[in-house]
Amino acid sequence: MRQPRPKTRVAKANAETDLMSLCSKEFLEYPIDNEVCKVACLRPETMSESEKEQLMHLLELNMKESYMETPSGWNRQEKESEMFDPAARHLVLLSRDEKIAAFSHFRFDMDYGVDVIYCYEIHIKECFQRKGIGRFLMEVLEHLMFVFGLSKLVLTVFKSNKNAIGFYTKIGFSIDETSPEDTHYLIMSKLNAKK
Ligand SMILES: CC(C)(COP(=O)(O)OP(=O)(O)OC[C@H]1O[C@@H](n2cnc3c(N)ncnc32)[C@H](O)[C@@H]1OP(=O)(O)O)[C@@H](O)C(=O)NCCC(=O)NCCS
Repeated sequence: MRQPRPKTRVAKANAETDLMSLCSKEFLEYPIDNEVCKVACLRPETMSESEKEQLMHLLELNMKESYMETPSGWNRQEKESEMFDPAARHLVLLSRDEKIAAFSHFRFDMDYGVDVIYCYEIHIKECFQRKGIGRFLMEVLEHLMFVFGLSKLVLTVFKSNKNAIGFYTKIGFSIDETSPEDTHYLIMSKLNAKK
């Protein structure tokens, strides 16, 4: 049977309104310290103000300082526009009090002519880091890449963020062929091994 074209695959992924329904039970919850945390996928148009605030707060806690060291600096308004663009999807891990303990902002997109799932952000609250949550959220993204038959999972990381680079390398990412030289960031990717 003829395979759908890359743009068709991306369009199909973007049209799906209930991404968690495409995930098996193992991806719907994650245990932290004997507490079962739920996973949800949020879209900006149906997010509450409190959810938006929690996402921005966690992003600022984890990244504001690093952004301030880059040529473009930190611009909250610009980040909000990016975070809550209609194309944005947010995979969130909710603790028992229903607060966001971790999230990944991702999108389905075409990148240099290739159909990709692009991880714009991944942030775990400091007290929950190194408990396997980052790996787990990336596995959910990888699963969605398989479901829609996309070619790769891509992300951008500041060269100064040695922790994140160590983490991505550990879970199987390598420097992508589109990563530019002479910049303060790297593009890393993981190819769809099932294609
Ligand atoms: C980077 C981040 C997402 C990693 O998530 P995490 O939940 O802490 O990582 P995990 O516990 O899932 O780690 C998965 C694997 O990566 C390894 N790892 C994690 N951090 C690492 C590091 N700094 N160096 C080397 N390996 C690392 C872990 O040891 C683990 O391997 P193991 O299962 O063999 O022990 C998280 O620490 C974070 O939110 N950091 C601050 C925000 C940030 O920098 N985000 C990325 C922006 S590009």
